[in-house]
Amino acid sequence: MNNDLIKSIEEKYTNLGENPETYLNGLLQTKPITYWDYIQVDTLLSLQKTRTDFKDEEIFVIYHQVTELTLKMMIHEIKQLSEGENLSEEVWITKLDRLKRYTRMLITSFDIMKDGMSYDDYNIFRAALTPASGFQCASFRYLELYSTRLENLLNKQGKERLPENPTTDDYFSHIYWKDAGLNRKTKESSLTLRLFVEKYEAGFKTLAEQVKGKTLEERIAQMDNPSEELKDKLKQFDHFYNVAWPLVHLDTAQHYLDRKGETKAATGGSEWKKYLHPKYQQRKFFPELWSQAEIENWGS
Ligand code: HEM
Repeated sequence: MNNDLIKSIEEKYTNLGENPETYLNGLLQTKPITYWDYIQVDTLLSLQKTRTDFKDEEIFVIYHQVTELTLKMMIHEIKQLSEGENLSEEVWITKLDRLKRYTRMLITSFDIMKDGMSYDDYNIFRAALTPASGFQCASFRYLELYSTRLENLLNKQGKERLPENPTTDDYFSHIYWKDAGLNRKTKESSLTLRLFVEKYEAGFKTLAEQVKGKTLEERIAQMDNPSEELKDKLKQFDHFYNVAWPLVHLDTAQHYLDRKGETKAATGGSEWKKYLHPKYQQRKFFPELWSQAEIENWGS
């Protein structure tokens, strides 16, 4: 046995005010770690609870969970970029490559939703999910709050409605995603939106305050002279996440809800054809990197 190793273990526990021998004795007793305990396989594979007997519903649930985990990996990278002071370009480029890779995974795998489920079965079992909607995915909102300033989460009409010197509350009143369930004339919200706001909005606002000055967009603006390579990677990520992924999602919605031009109601009840289109949402994380013409043609 390596003496230096024993010495380091002794030092570690002595510095903690503990008896190293107790810990070494503990090590003698512990069972070897296994894959299934470490990865929590049993717990993970017990989380697929369906509401109907349609076989494809389990695919629907699993694929949403896969997306949640992918978004978690992405937020994990984005948080490091947001929290890190003066990170090198190398770190940024590595993380942006990861973010692009994860988003590409979401884009290329989305046909599991389109071709991996039966059209007829989906159109029946989805009624059992109302008023739940992927719209209520909080990870999607956290990711955008870390990535960009609040004002970029308002479309043109939202920006026009903003008062002077808007507060965080004002931004949230006009944020693009409220358009999925808020009737701005009657001020009535859909149940889908109300439940989402009740559960998450306070947390979103706290996060928005916390990340002021530290969103990815602002971190880039604080850099001395970002390289063209870095700017290109930021643009690619912006386009993947805010145009390409929304378009495959919209294409799937169209497949199930509008195959014969019938514009069926979505489970979340939005005017989905309009709402889900990147042209309408105009969501961009790094608007200053795009030309005026590119902004005008966003999502075309
Ligand atoms: C058959 C598959 C799917 C269909 C037909 C579908 C349809 C829709 C529709 C119509 C909306 C608009 C809100 C509403 O009225 O409900 C929506 C929103 C949303 N869905 Fe899906 N969806 C599908 C799969 C997924 C998956 C797998 C995810 C992954 C988590 C997801 C995440 C989202 C998100 C994040 C929104 C909000 C988008 C935004 O605000 O820009 N959807 N979906």
